[in-house]
Amino acid sequence: MTALTRATKSTGGRGLAPHGSASAQPPHPPPQLQSPTSAELLAYFGETWHLYDWLFSGVAPEAIAMQPDPLRHPLVFYVGHTAAFYVNKLRLAGLWQDGVDAHLDQLFARGVDPATANDLQTLAWPTLAEALRYRGTVFDRVRLFIEGLDVCGAITPSDPLWSLAMSLEHDRIHFETSSVLIRQLPLDVVTRPPGWVYADTAGEPPPLAWIAVPPRSVELGRPASGATFGWDNEYGQLAADVSAFVATQNLISNRDYFGFVSDEGYARRDLWSEAGWRWRSRQAVERPRFWTGSVSNPRYRAMFDELEMPWSWPVEVCAHEAEAFCRWLGGGARLLREVEHAALALDAPRDSTGDSIAHPGYNLNLRYGSPCPVASLPSGRTPLGFNDVFGNVWQWFGDDFQPLPGFVPHPYYPEFSQPYFDRDHAALGGGAWASTGASASRLYRLWFRRHFFQHAGFRVARDV
Ligand SMILES: [Fe+2]
Repeated sequence: MTALTRATKSTGGRGLAPHGSASAQPPHPPPQLQSPTSAELLAYFGETWHLYDWLFSGVAPEAIAMQPDPLRHPLVFYVGHTAAFYVNKLRLAGLWQDGVDAHLDQLFARGVDPATANDLQTLAWPTLAEALRYRGTVFDRVRLFIEGLDVCGAITPSDPLWSLAMSLEHDRIHFETSSVLIRQLPLDVVTRPPGWVYADTAGEPPPLAWIAVPPRSVELGRPASGATFGWDNEYGQLAADVSAFVATQNLISNRDYFGFVSDEGYARRDLWSEAGWRWRSRQAVERPRFWTGSVSNPRYRAMFDELEMPWSWPVEVCAHEAEAFCRWLGGGARLLREVEHAALALDAPRDSTGDSIAHPGYNLNLRYGSPCPVASLPSGRTPLGFNDVFGNVWQWFGDDFQPLPGFVPHPYYPEFSQPYFDRDHAALGGGAWASTGASASRLYRLWFRRHFFQHAGFRVARDV
């Protein structure tokens, strides 16, 4: 029995909207909040919930107590966490008076981001059955709450119902981050769920090519009057004049990165930053986290399976590895900066809402249940010729994560972004195949510690 079959039982197998899949109907974009109906919110809630169940359906119950990443809690925390978030935020906003379970509401309340595994506190976790019971209770309460809503007018950041929109998008975030944890589980405790489809692994990427970008003026920041949900760090506004630069046409592929690995890149101190070398040495790293087999003849760990190495897919590495590759490439190669990404994206194709989420030229929104070849979606190519400006894998930027001018922490989640505006967290952007909802928006901004793994790769730039 998988975690999903148990989860379905725990929620009574209620028939909400069918979840999206990598092969069938794609997940819906986030609801318009200018005049939403409760039916629209309910459908999005159902899809969101089922996406998470779908993901966890690939995990054997005995693996739920496992801790796939030493920098994160055991998986059972993530079974309960997305549910507890609804409870805690709706209460904080004054929409609910009571919690569901005083102990579990708090135990599941907050994730962690320790600098080292030793900083992670050991807690007594509930069983999977207890976590699923909690999850089922929350599901019922949120569903009834949304069904009873009489939404009048827009839901804005100052509206109590913003807490609901926030909870929905928080759920979507954890679909993605939990997927990275599950990808680190042993293969014998995972099974690819029905409908989960990987892209074609065959073929070679085009040779590394550089494209010149002329000087461009860009503006970062989500308009305050936007029609969909945004996280606090997306608001504010930064206007920048970006000097001319060159960047790689494509994301760096597994084939490109194999050159660095074959050239003993992991053993060459001169290629690594001080922090990067410390990380590499402590972990004895000699290849990307999701490469398996031998170093000289690697295979590839996809979400639920080991595959032949997809040489044409973008490499997935942490920021330290990305920076080391740039030094190895030489000639002033460096990571793309956030404002440069905005310059690349200035004329990138957009969907009918003006966003990237539903455009068919990007591997976003579960188009595939994996990355795909770097130059395989020509309808997303920019006029200058760049591929995968959005989607496929997140792009590590060469910047620390910083607020936009005018940033104000949101009172329902003041610790969402603000604690991470430091030198230890790098900015990422562009979204990945697993990004859905507001996370797949062209305006979404992400950050992680430089040694942390996500579905993330990079694009290289150079000054001119
Ligand atoms: Fe969270």
